[in-house]
Amino acid sequence: MNFDREKFNAVKAAFTLDDDALRTMVEDFRADMRAGLAGEPHAMMRMLRSYLGLPSGKENGTFLALDFGGTNVRALRILLKGGGDYEVLSKVAKPLTMPGLYDHISADATAEEMFDFLAELIDEAIEGNRTTPYLLGHTFSFPSRQTDIYNAELIIWTKEFATRGVEGKVVNDLLKEALARRGMTNVTPVAVINDTVAVLLAAAYKNEHTYIGSIYATGQNTCYYEEFADGSAPATIINMESGGFCNLPCTKYDDAIDRESEKPGAQRLEKMVSGRYLGALYGAALADLLGADGIYPFTSIELSEIVADAYLDRHSAGAAIEAKTGMTFSAAERTLLQELATAVIVRSARIVAATYAGIIQHRRGEDELENQFIAVDGSVYEKVPLVAHHLRAALDMLLMDEAVNVQIILENTGSALGAALAAAMTETK
Ligand code: BGC
Repeated sequence: MNFDREKFNAVKAAFTLDDDALRTMVEDFRADMRAGLAGEPHAMMRMLRSYLGLPSGKENGTFLALDFGGTNVRALRILLKGGGDYEVLSKVAKPLTMPGLYDHISADATAEEMFDFLAELIDEAIEGNRTTPYLLGHTFSFPSRQTDIYNAELIIWTKEFATRGVEGKVVNDLLKEALARRGMTNVTPVAVINDTVAVLLAAAYKNEHTYIGSIYATGQNTCYYEEFADGSAPATIINMESGGFCNLPCTKYDDAIDRESEKPGAQRLEKMVSGRYLGALYGAALADLLGADGIYPFTSIELSEIVADAYLDRHSAGAAIEAKTGMTFSAAERTLLQELATAVIVRSARIVAATYAGIIQHRRGEDELENQFIAVDGSVYEKVPLVAHHLRAALDMLLMDEAVNVQIILENTGSALGAALAAAMTETK
């Protein structure tokens, strides 16, 4: 045996969140939503206003969309046809970092380099056109302080981005300057939205009764339509920055990941659930179990492969683990190591479910739970085995009889379609 069975049980148990712990989390999360909305200084979630309501469904016309939120950026030209219908007229996508060639997200990169790269991408999407006037919606998936639909200032990078000269700046101004440098004065950035807001807009354009939009990918965050039951403010979509919630039962592995990250102390929920960190969490737990120093650098894709191996001898799961650890394991050990990977993933899904339940309870107040959709986008939700299943199961447990009123839908056109919708909505405001 390469590891002690009791130690294994303890490491695995550290990732287990029982139903009571989850119910407590829902209550704490709701309390923090209220604190964030009231602007209380101790609030963990930023609860940022988007200055947008839900789309009417009638939006139409051609708009540009820039989707900037992870390592891949995309620029699109989209024709909105109304009634939930749309057509992508052109689309270009490029990674922000290409090892050995360029890297626009490290601390060596500058804002100018990054935004020139974005302007070039938009230029490709419009095929060099300098005459047709275009309104552009920008999905910018980082915590931003907004004062209106155009003005969004990056508060702090997340997801390990570190480009200099962007924090504290109005991102659409940086984009406008870059467009001007290329002579693209026919393109006007008019709206900036978070990717969660984009998912909600896109889903609500197609289905009425969608009030919650969520990303479960490299990063994790959720927004919802806040109607301010006390009439204290006009209804708007709130980007919660729920990845910042931190009243959570963190393990020593979570603490290790946090310490090694670009921003220790920040985004504690996100670091427990999102694709950027899941593999490393497993790597930290495994290193502890095997008595090794540091953190084995697993990716969430490798973690998915480990969990997906359904062969009796767990050969491919074992190969992935052996490649990182340099140790060989028996089939029985490999099965246990797979169980540990499953525990990391299941915990993630259950925590995210608790955040959704918190929002649903907050929105309904004392009312009956209306039939509704939660729109979710992201590679973890879509591709990591067991996530969608355990998310649903935990939501069912938390909402009990009323769970049937809530449907979770996959909305994977959101980031771009939502940006185009936001641009269109500035015309009708
Ligand atoms: C960012 C959010 C974003 C989420 C999903 C987080 O790291 O802070 O603004 O919505 O990632 O992309």
